[in-house]
Amino acid sequence: MRKPIIAGNWKMHKTTLEAINLVNALKRELYNIENVDIVVCPPFTVLNEVSEIIQDSNIALGGQDVFWEKEGAFTGEVSARMLKDVGCRYVIIGHSERRKYFGETDEIVGKKIRAALKEELIPIVCIGESLKQREEGKTFDIVKGQIRQGFKDLSEEEFLKLIIAYEPIWAIGTGRTATPGEAEEVQGFIRQQIADIYSEEAANLIRIQYGGSVKPDNIEELIREKDIDGALVGGASLEADSFVEIVKKSSALVRSETSDKQK
Ligand code: 13P
Repeated sequence: MRKPIIAGNWKMHKTTLEAINLVNALKRELYNIENVDIVVCPPFTVLNEVSEIIQDSNIALGGQDVFWEKEGAFTGEVSARMLKDVGCRYVIIGHSERRKYFGETDEIVGKKIRAALKEELIPIVCIGESLKQREEGKTFDIVKGQIRQGFKDLSEEEFLKLIIAYEPIWAIGTGRTATPGEAEEVQGFIRQQIADIYSEEAANLIRIQYGGSVKPDNIEELIREKDIDGALVGGASLEADSFVEIVKKSSALVRSETSDKQK
């Protein structure tokens, strides 16, 4: 079992005070979790405050997006260096909301991945199909295209620094989670693509999260699947109780699987 990574994508939520309250609660409740990587991705405006609170804790910080240039006249944009400077270790790249509302293409995603890697940020790269594409039977083609284009020109060593998040667009914010079987089918396919492009070893090592209406009551069945290595959580990461429960349930599952293996 690969170490699960549970990341909260706060999207465009939380004022400073709300963010401080939330992250203080997470820190208090999750301080003793070691077998799960925990990440929060707040909006840019509160990265600094959250960063100070989680310093020296087991919670890591991530940005929700990054621009590909180092610096310059790019009004409204934030560079990888700036994210690193404020304490980020991760950055979400290519989220479907960015692809949909801001016209991000696989080519842009590729440029952002490179910019993040240069600053030693870990990109969490989102891929996934729309409902229409799924209904037309194009899921595998879409995901394959996103992988081939987005990761183009990355060496195996570079590629292994990434986290992939499979987020079927029809499951985001809709309450309609992919069934564990539906998610596993695509995530297994993603892993197979990685084996084809790079190697079996790379396919075995890379962590693939699932995202889309992950909640405390479905996290266990999802991460029990062999190709699901954690979750990218939207709505349920906005309340301490639900995010804490998701992380704790993941942690308990790792513990029980590890002790099963030792028997
Ligand atoms: P929800 O968990 O709200 O469906 O959002 C998922 C998501 O987009 C995480 O990046």
